[in-house]
Amino acid sequence: MTNSSLWWQTGVVYQIYPRSFQDSNADGIGDLPGIRSRLAYLEWLGVDAIWISPIYPSPMADFGYDVANYTDVEPTFGTLADFDHLLADAHQRNLRVLLDFVPNHSSDEHAWFIESRSSRTNPKRDWYIWRDPAPHGGPPNNWESFFGGSAWTFDSRTGQYYLHLFDPKQPDLNWRNPDVKAAMFANIRFWLDRGVDGFRIDVIWMLYKDEQWRDNPPNPDYQPGDPYYTRQLRIYTEDQPGIHELLQEMRAVFDEYDERVMIGEIYLPYAQLMRYYGPSLNEVHLPFNFALVNNQTWTAPAVREIVNSYEAALPEEATPNWVLGNHDRPRIASKVGPAQARIAQLLLLTLRGTPTCYYGEEIGMIEGDIPPESIVDPEALRTGQRGRDPVRTPMQWDDSPYAGFSPAPAWLPLAEGYATRNVAVQRDDPTSMLSLTRRLMQLRRSLSALLNGGYRAISLDSDDGNREAVFAYLRANDDQRVLVVLNFTDTPQQLDLSALATNGVVHCSTAMDTSGTVHLARLVLRPNEGLLIELE
Ligand code: GLC
Repeated sequence: MTNSSLWWQTGVVYQIYPRSFQDSNADGIGDLPGIRSRLAYLEWLGVDAIWISPIYPSPMADFGYDVANYTDVEPTFGTLADFDHLLADAHQRNLRVLLDFVPNHSSDEHAWFIESRSSRTNPKRDWYIWRDPAPHGGPPNNWESFFGGSAWTFDSRTGQYYLHLFDPKQPDLNWRNPDVKAAMFANIRFWLDRGVDGFRIDVIWMLYKDEQWRDNPPNPDYQPGDPYYTRQLRIYTEDQPGIHELLQEMRAVFDEYDERVMIGEIYLPYAQLMRYYGPSLNEVHLPFNFALVNNQTWTAPAVREIVNSYEAALPEEATPNWVLGNHDRPRIASKVGPAQARIAQLLLLTLRGTPTCYYGEEIGMIEGDIPPESIVDPEALRTGQRGRDPVRTPMQWDDSPYAGFSPAPAWLPLAEGYATRNVAVQRDDPTSMLSLTRRLMQLRRSLSALLNGGYRAISLDSDDGNREAVFAYLRANDDQRVLVVLNFTDTPQQLDLSALATNGVVHCSTAMDTSGTVHLARLVLRPNEGLLIELE
């Protein structure tokens, strides 16, 4: 990569869950004017782009991932004019704005579905996926919804079942129908014409389903307590033949415009995931890399293996990307604890490629405790499992009663500890997670090796335990070599890295108390310490 890198190849993406970021009208729900009022913060923090989870009119059965109209704004969030103002302000501050496109399904309250379900002969009938009952009655096959139960709901008016891989209020669109494709591409253009810088695209690897409607096999590794949606191997409802050609057509829509980015939500093993870049990088610009999100073993060897195998699998010239958490999955600080969350942040912001930061990660936000009467996530309500409410609690701005998120009680309870874990407290504390994050974002801009340098893992000696405790890697270009050394344990580590250089200058320590020149023959890491060192 050279100076001509595109913004999305080097920038940091910040995910905003709009219900939970900032409320401007005291209804306890975040909104677009609220986000707009926090742009100065995001600029100060140093992110390059915001991705806002769905903001379209929606009955909120899945909090916006059930879209009733793809070309307008949900009144709870504001108006189209509010959106235009937000976009203009963001652009003025050099922040890009990405929206969330939800192509796999609409709301059952979308005008298309209302028509489709009205009769078997309605012109929109085939816009959704309707099937007769099985020969002896019951759903057409065994496909299960991610949110529990059959993925088919019977509609007595017309005597057929419709498919919904998610909630019954989220009927799946029929992407094999050319009119659906054309209408959805027009919806993408609507926002790109307005100046939106790209989209994160929801469950993009599921748009096609098996044309023979075969049963999905049970997952032999499923254990009680595992997420409900892992009960079946979804081999006939995801990653189907033809999907790549379809997504290449979708990409061509983005390519009608300058510098717009197409990011795909794809949970697949690396070998399948990499195909979504396309045979000539003509498909998804950034197929989300969820390896760290899925990872359950936060150790140096496990994380080293994840990074090395990703780097090895990546197609030539493809832009890598990294994610620690999102609105569906556990928060990193809850998963690995506060000390290791700092290591995770240093990792995220110094690996090769585009990092995505979920709102609150920059202050080490932990998951909320949701009492049963406050549970609203359809996944939790239908499966009886924990669901996603805990990771969607309001952003913690200050220690006022509703954390500066709203003057009114919020739609979800605040996470514990918000009075001390918030932006106002951390902003002026040089040792805080927020200061660490901001420093790393600044370093990404000032150290060219972090933006365009290659990646190489450093072999460590297992005799003295370093291999098990520490993950070290080099980011280097022709001008600069930056070494990142991460101690995954709570014991001090001493390393001899003199094979790389004699001395180095510490630009950042997660412990915040190592600085100046270090000698690589005797590099000492404190417990849970990560260092970013420019080699001499
Ligand atoms: C994606 C979203 C999730 C949503 C689902 C259905 O996985 O991230 O929040 O429930 O798709 O749209």
